[in-house]
Amino acid sequence: MTIAGGSSTGSKRPASWFGAGDDPALPATVAWCGGARVRDQAGREYLDFGMSLGAVVLGYGHPAVTAAVRAAIDHGGPGPFPAESEAALAEELAAAIPWLERVRFLKTGAEAIAAAIRLARVHTGRDLVIGCGYHGWLDGTSDATGVPAAVRGLYRTIPFNDETAARTIIREHGNALAIVIVEPVVDGPPSAGWLAALREETSRVGALLAFDEIKTGFRVALGGGAERWGVVPDLAAYGKGLANGFPLAVLGGRADVMAGVDRTWISSTLAGEPIAVAAARATLAIFVRDAVPDHLAAVGDRLQGGLRALARRFPDLVTGAPGVPEMCYLRYHAVETGQRVARAAARRGLLFKPTGYDFVSLAHSAADIDRAIDILGESLSEARG
Ligand SMILES: Cc1ncc(COP(=O)(O)O)c(C=O)c1O
Repeated sequence: MTIAGGSSTGSKRPASWFGAGDDPALPATVAWCGGARVRDQAGREYLDFGMSLGAVVLGYGHPAVTAAVRAAIDHGGPGPFPAESEAALAEELAAAIPWLERVRFLKTGAEAIAAAIRLARVHTGRDLVIGCGYHGWLDGTSDATGVPAAVRGLYRTIPFNDETAARTIIREHGNALAIVIVEPVVDGPPSAGWLAALREETSRVGALLAFDEIKTGFRVALGGGAERWGVVPDLAAYGKGLANGFPLAVLGGRADVMAGVDRTWISSTLAGEPIAVAAARATLAIFVRDAVPDHLAAVGDRLQGGLRALARRFPDLVTGAPGVPEMCYLRYHAVETGQRVARAAARRGLLFKPTGYDFVSLAHSAADIDRAIDILGESLSEARG
């Protein structure tokens, strides 16, 4: 295996689904995907809930997105100046998500968060960042081995949905605090009190509030958690579903904060290249036209309801079904049990991740959900046996 670590995306390693081992009866690579279906290296077909770690919201290979991408390729791809379509997408996003007064495109979620931190530091003249949830692999929000202690010292975390802790920690660090960045969903929806505390306390100390909508944007609502739960952040980052799996992320927000780009340097060669931009414009149009969030909520409710019923049937193996309908999973007492269930499910034609999250898409039908719940029930019985 020439790819260090086996896969360039850690959470796509088969071991993170099935545990260590090399069982040829299990999928290791993807040869094809379409709708909510995936075929592996041996041509076996699966019903999938991995959905490229939630990046594919309309289903794999959605025809309108594919057509838009083909047209962009026919126009020659990236050129020496920004593509015409980049500004068009920015306008369309601002019309759909009003707090995106100005935007910058990037390629990954981690980059969009890095840009939020940079702009917050420019805007406030302060360095400290408070986060909640996962914000990508880059140094500014990571405590992985190799991140210097001095850099780690500029990043703190707060617990999800803990209003008192949020108020206390933000007040305590108020004078040094540049930005608070939160995922609006961490194993469940945010409480109104927590969101209100974040909004009030950041404003009070003169820090910015950013929502990391990389998973929740284009999923729990077009505008993500900010839209769904009605709190307007100063900055918001979207990725994943934004271009239905094509590589694009966006950071946007208040015009005065985003104007900080002129006082620093945020730039990447292919940030606004027209192929992913075309995918995003097509995705946005379908989102609005086909009321995608309504479909995700309906099939997601069916899924999470089914998972909760399984948790009641198998309390010795499963502790619950955390998340929100659009992104949820089965939580197991033991990691190995989850991997055993994932292996048993894959042998029955279902890809269901044993850790957060499993994702529904526009391509999942009610019948798909029922089939998944049936297979998970059989797989849990097998794991118990
Ligand atoms: C909430 C959140 N923020 C940021 C990221 C990082 O995005 P990327 O992997 O595109 O850098 C992720 C990725 O899973 C995420 O879920």
